[in-house]
Amino acid sequence: MAADEAAHLLETRVLPVEVGDLGLFKAGSKSTSVDTWQLLQSASASYQTLKDAASYLQTSSIPVAFPTETVYGLGADATRSEAVKGIYRAKGRPSDNPLISHVCDLDMLRDILSAGERSGHGDLDPIPEIYKPLIDQFWPGPLTILLPNPPRSRLAPEVTAGLKSFGVRMPDSPLALSLIKLAGVPLAAPSANASTKPSPTTAQHVLHDLNGRIEIILDGGPCHVGVESTVVDGLCDPPVVLRPGGLSLDRIRQCRGWERTIKGYKDSSELGSAAPRAPGMKYKHYSPKAKVILCEGASGVHPSDIPSLHKDAGLPPSIPTSQPPALGIVRTRTWKPWGGLATGEWCRIAPCEDPQTISLRQASAGHAAPIEMREAKLYNLDDPPLQLAYLVEVELGTDMKDIAHGLFAALRDLDRRDVAAIFVEGVDDEGDIGAAVMNRLRKAATEVRC
Ligand code: TXA
Ligand code: MG
Repeated sequence: MAADEAAHLLETRVLPVEVGDLGLFKAGSKSTSVDTWQLLQSASASYQTLKDAASYLQTSSIPVAFPTETVYGLGADATRSEAVKGIYRAKGRPSDNPLISHVCDLDMLRDILSAGERSGHGDLDPIPEIYKPLIDQFWPGPLTILLPNPPRSRLAPEVTAGLKSFGVRMPDSPLALSLIKLAGVPLAAPSANASTKPSPTTAQHVLHDLNGRIEIILDGGPCHVGVESTVVDGLCDPPVVLRPGGLSLDRIRQCRGWERTIKGYKDSSELGSAAPRAPGMKYKHYSPKAKVILCEGASGVHPSDIPSLHKDAGLPPSIPTSQPPALGIVRTRTWKPWGGLATGEWCRIAPCEDPQTISLRQASAGHAAPIEMREAKLYNLDDPPLQLAYLVEVELGTDMKDIAHGLFAALRDLDRRDVAAIFVEGVDDEGDIGAAVMNRLRKAATEVRC
């Protein structure tokens, strides 16, 4: 049996971890806890689960899925080639795409940078000065920095995919940090989705994509941020943002040495032939099965979209059919209900009762209420009326954090309902994490309307 087939036969367990039960964190002897810290042993079941998962990571060539504040990651010991190859196998991801390494403190990062050649207190800090203000401000957090990979690096070559640099971040998740601490090695971890699918923001999303391909999913609840980290390169002049993400360009530019930071991503060129500098940016990504129609201008769903959906579903434009196509609508800031399909002009909308709550529940206080999903039947005005479509609408809210937080979950939940197409209301992509949201949506889109 081929290794790839065998990989589908694993028993996948989802193991809950309560962060509150993890035990005590103790700052190290240095001035800040970002430099180093300790996790004190605890008798809780959650601590034991993490400890077992950490031991598994030390020897296994099958990765472990775990939550971070951005999205769920699929982690493996970044220092062992066999372990890292396991990530590519489980995801079905091309191996020319480098992985981000995750560290629990700066001492772990210094160990990578000095490749075991640091001898004592007098050594210079191997972390380049340019990154210090960013690390001070934003670590732990949704920021990945690129650093030179030293000769005789501890990192397995599969992590960097042959590049001379490596990407690293310190996630802002007690669960992720504790797992790395207990494993005692940096964890290479891309998002824990099957290649090309939307990134997972709950353990259930991971299970959906990787069931049978991995053995352990650590469930720490939904991710707070909802889009991946921002990737920056500060070793060139001016510094560059290679991938927009959970930390905005504006905030990065406020740091000393980062005032002139430029965008190194261009959505149009990413889709074209020019080789992007963050190799992951060249693949079709974040895509549900359904056709995604991204509306960047104010226009909503148009009546003429309905016949074209019938056509996509292989149906004549307006015959009665027992199975009218289902249509997803994702609203953000300005669209009217049902994407603006106005009742009375040419159609009638009969909302179904009992809105369902989307599978994503908010992890903590400070976030909006759970996202609701509403359903309706769309009829024409004939007598008797014909049902033209089945509508499923998700309203993400107007706050950019809530939009980022719910986006991938909305795309996944609509996909599970087998909609033929998803109309998404775009947002302004300047400033805040709107750039990251629009970047992901353009990659998922089959059609972009301005
Ligand atoms: O939020 C995140 O960053 C998540 C969570 C799990 O931490 N991880 C994640 O990893 O999104 P991944 O592997 O899916 O994305 C890595 C991105 C890709 O766009 C990749 O090309 C870029 O970072 N990258 C990594 N190392 C690089 C390098 N040495 N040079 C240029 N780009 C690099
Ligand atoms: Mg990814």
